[in-house]
Amino acid sequence: MKNDIELTDKEFNLFQKIVFKEIGIFLENSKKFLLKNRLLKQLLIYNLTSYSDYYRLIQVNKNEKIKMLNLITTNETYFFREKRHFDFIENSVIPFVDKLRVWSAACSTGVEAYSVAMLLDNSNIKYEIIGSDVNTDVVKKANIGLYPVKMMAKIPEDLKIKYCLKGKGNYEGLFLVDRILITNMDFQNRNLLDSHIDLGLFDIVFLRNVLIYFSDEMKEKIIRNVIKNLKVGGYIIVSLTEHIHELDLSLIHI
Ligand SMILES: C[S@@+](CC[C@H](N)C(=O)[O-])C[C@H]1O[C@@H](n2cnc3c(N)ncnc32)[C@H](O)[C@@H]1O
Repeated sequence: MKNDIELTDKEFNLFQKIVFKEIGIFLENSKKFLLKNRLLKQLLIYNLTSYSDYYRLIQVNKNEKIKMLNLITTNETYFFREKRHFDFIENSVIPFVDKLRVWSAACSTGVEAYSVAMLLDNSNIKYEIIGSDVNTDVVKKANIGLYPVKMMAKIPEDLKIKYCLKGKGNYEGLFLVDRILITNMDFQNRNLLDSHIDLGLFDIVFLRNVLIYFSDEMKEKIIRNVIKNLKVGGYIIVSLTEHIHELDLSLIHI
């Protein structure tokens, strides 16, 4: 079996269309090699000799289609990413409430949700946190809450001591987020393009480092879907490097 299989422009176009249809992400032509590399392993696993064959496979094998979409999403994340947002919650939200519902929309492996959970649990306020992502693999990882020790780096020292349990033996080099936090949390597989997402109303929605993958039209659709789940006066927190002010959100009805 050859390890380098050509991806023609025509084949790439088929994947562009299906990825856009399923999760709303438009893969620019510059992403051709990324797609080729990320899917190559699957072709080898199934002993396929062309991307057209793999495309045909995902038409009839639903699980493989899910796997393909999982491989396409970019899941980079880390604890207490963009600390300014956590400082905002700590200093400008927590002192004025006794309970909070928070949604980590596009939560990846869950570390954003666990970062908020550590903060809220440590402040002794009641909370419920839902994490969701379109990628089924990362949702499974989020539920387990086991991470490489190097991911502890940005967790404040007091929270690290209180909520991170270092592994031994088979778990050497890993740490488990204290399961006490998960009693107030839930991780679910959700597509932000689904206009029927109904998770109840939230005080705060984290929608960070995900809009960047979408066209303005899709961003607007996502924001509309998110706002349906936001309490009046609630906050949507987007990444420090993302903007939503240029979008046409004038027709939003809450
Ligand atoms: C770069 S990660 C951001 C994780 C986290 N919010 C953070 O800021 O660290 C982007 C996540 O968005 C998810 N995603 C992409 N398209 C999505 C969609 N249509 N619905 C829900 N999640 C999506 C990806 O699977 C990925 O886990």
